[in-house]
Amino acid sequence: MIGIAFKHEQKHNYIPANLLQPYMTLAKKHQVDLCIFSFMQIHQTRNTVEALVYSFKQDDLMHKTVPVPRVNIFRNASYIVDQGLIDRFLRLRKKNIRFINFPLYRQANKLDNYEHLNSHGQLKGHVPPAEILSFEGFASFIRQYGKVIIKPVYGSRGRGITIAEKDHAGYQVRQTSFKKYAAASRKISLPPQEIKSFFHEAFPRPASFLVQKWIPLKEFNGRPFDVRAVMQKNGKNKWQVTSRVARFAREKGEITNLSQGGEMVSVSKLPLKPYHRSMRQFCLEIAKAFETLYPWAAEMGIDLALDHHGKLWYIETNYCPEKSRWSTLFEIPFEYACYLHQKQGRGIMPGQ
Ligand SMILES: Nc1ncnc2c1ncn2[C@@H]1O[C@H](COP(=O)(O)OP(=O)(O)O)[C@@H](O)[C@H]1O
Ligand SMILES: [Mg+2]
Repeated sequence: MIGIAFKHEQKHNYIPANLLQPYMTLAKKHQVDLCIFSFMQIHQTRNTVEALVYSFKQDDLMHKTVPVPRVNIFRNASYIVDQGLIDRFLRLRKKNIRFINFPLYRQANKLDNYEHLNSHGQLKGHVPPAEILSFEGFASFIRQYGKVIIKPVYGSRGRGITIAEKDHAGYQVRQTSFKKYAAASRKISLPPQEIKSFFHEAFPRPASFLVQKWIPLKEFNGRPFDVRAVMQKNGKNKWQVTSRVARFAREKGEITNLSQGGEMVSVSKLPLKPYHRSMRQFCLEIAKAFETLYPWAAEMGIDLALDHHGKLWYIETNYCPEKSRWSTLFEIPFEYACYLHQKQGRGIMPGQ
């Protein structure tokens, strides 16, 4: 039996029919039963759960209380911040009850992730230098690199980002808002003597930000872009590149998040053929590196960039990447779960 776990905000276990059907189809195809439940409903001590149980032989669904399956797919719509849920996940893991794609909030820590990749020889030169923000660090990065980006350690969607560069007159600073969907970024010119007070006003809690070397992104038709690659573990227990899209910054913009006005274009529509192989290799190395840190993560969205010279740079990893295709949403994770389920049935449980 394979588990499909949902995270519900409230204590109910309503599961939308449009999500049930794809899993039932896959269960029939792979001849395995399903246990569909809300993660919140797991009994704290007994490790049982009130679930919708699907029998592929009878093709029927029944409400039952059953032991939580050994292999479960967690529907990872957003990072899990609730420590109670995280503790439960870790406790179940110790008992060999696995939740694939359970995105812990700490996985979104950009600095920890940079540090981890820097410990891998072949990736080290492809991680832009970064450190926790302080005024001294900021000043030294500006001296060294001319242009820097400051972003929240736990940021997302391009919110709360500051880009600063030095020119003959002083500093040019651009800032995106902290609000959900920012309209436009703020532009400020500062004479050198004002930078310190600006900094302390803009970053009252600098330790929640990082400062990083700015990478001049490769451009196409005068617009900079980066690439989001969705990586998934498949039914052969291998990482695969499931999709790759380029994201272009808006007109005169510098950051590529869609929520900051960025635009998506399929990588295959761009003249990037010479980079396909190296991008693929790069993403596979990154996915394998993170697998050692977060062995339950079977999918990730990797943001990478090409600079003006075509060199590859790592930007960040998102453990709740947006997915749209049926195979990406349902089939590939399910096939990976089937692989784990079979291994476990034979008494061999790999790293996951
Ligand atoms: N070091 C960098 N050099 C150039 N552009 C960057 C750099 N870091 C981030 N960016 C741009 O800013 C965007 C947002 O940064 P990212 O680290 O992905 O944060 P978020 O979690 O907010 O998406 C990236 O998609 C990229 O366009
Ligand atoms: Mg990003």
